[in-house]
Amino acid sequence: MHQSFADITSFLLRHQNYWRHDPFHQVISGRVLWQESAPQLFEWIQTLSPQEILELKSSTQYAIEALEPYISDVRTAHTAIELSSMHSTEELVLSRGIDAGIPGRKLEQIKQMTTACLNDHAGNEWLEWCSGKGFLGRLLASESKQSVTSFEFQSALCKAGQEEADKRTLPMRFVQGDAFSPQSKLVFKPTQHAVALHACGDLHVTLIKHAVEQHLSALTISPCCYHLIQGENYSPLSKEGKAAKLSLSKHELRIPLQETVTGGERVRRHREQEMVFRLGFDALCQSHKLSEGYLPIPSIKKSQLSSGFKALCEWAAHNKQLDLPDVDFGHFEQMGHRRYWQMEALSVVQGVFRRPLEVWLALDKALYLQEQGYNVGLSTFCETSVTPRNILIHAKRAD
Ligand SMILES: C[S@@+](CC[C@H](N)C(=O)[O-])C[C@H]1O[C@@H](n2cnc3c(N)ncnc32)[C@H](O)[C@@H]1O
Repeated sequence: MHQSFADITSFLLRHQNYWRHDPFHQVISGRVLWQESAPQLFEWIQTLSPQEILELKSSTQYAIEALEPYISDVRTAHTAIELSSMHSTEELVLSRGIDAGIPGRKLEQIKQMTTACLNDHAGNEWLEWCSGKGFLGRLLASESKQSVTSFEFQSALCKAGQEEADKRTLPMRFVQGDAFSPQSKLVFKPTQHAVALHACGDLHVTLIKHAVEQHLSALTISPCCYHLIQGENYSPLSKEGKAAKLSLSKHELRIPLQETVTGGERVRRHREQEMVFRLGFDALCQSHKLSEGYLPIPSIKKSQLSSGFKALCEWAAHNKQLDLPDVDFGHFEQMGHRRYWQMEALSVVQGVFRRPLEVWLALDKALYLQEQGYNVGLSTFCETSVTPRNILIHAKRAD
């Protein structure tokens, strides 16, 4: 882990111009930071057709292959971050009805995570952190027959989860509380194995800190929403993370989340149309000096998209109290299209840095847990098609 962390750190630092800057804002500003330092790469992305861009965005492997002539160490970096897979090929057979109310994709994640937790369990009870309705805790209680404390902020979720557990006489107890309050520490005990499925940013960081302080037996965490932090920048936990000097702003912490596998073609087309309109409206504002710099417009309803570009510009101008000049809207809509595909081409380049960044964030936690006396493993617990947030940090006290 130490070597991988050092290698990813230098890869990310070496190439920061490619990934730190948001493709949308680069298009808006008309300035691509690496254009001069990598003219051939810049020339190549200009030649890409929309179809080629879509293909490159559909597979990291294609993107790595295509970018290797320009970013020579991209393949080595991806080989260094390959994680072993904990996906169980044996289907977990659940007691009848235990999965009631758990949506399909969520159930698949929870079954895989339950198997991973049971395969290397330590302690004699579970703490389910930021549990929601406690779906994961329900399967763990049912499979292990050990008690589960499910900690959650939203009272309604606690109530719903407790009712489901009581119906099945499962040994589950919901505790309503705020993870960031000092009282939350009171739910931690050394005999627990803590689990967290998709606990956002500082929520999983808080879990790790409390678990270390209270000497929990084990932790199994799948992190998500890295940008949901209280500070402005990411605070590394491990010594190596602190020494790495890889500063990450809230905005940059969103980069790993930009890979979406859900939604399909309809959602993609809807996003394309919305972005074309936004970029076209910005082009109009810039060319007629209606605003100084980018003018953010509110979220656009799906129903508005079908009214066409001119109607959207009128709505946005009204919203921003601008006088819209009489212009050739077709021209600016075309500019919106061109700018959209420029943005997508830039995001092909940024895209190959997403997973290294995510693994870096996970490794920082893994190294911290190792420093604190845990044996730690990083793996994936399900296919990315089930959820792209599929990294699992598993730690067990070494003593
Ligand atoms: C992404 S959801 C995950 C829920 C559940 N683990 C799952 O995978 O279905 C994050 C959960 O954290 C809870 N949460 C958010 N802020 C919290 C806080 N400050 N303290 C405790 N729970 C919190 C939310 O209410 C939500 O249920």
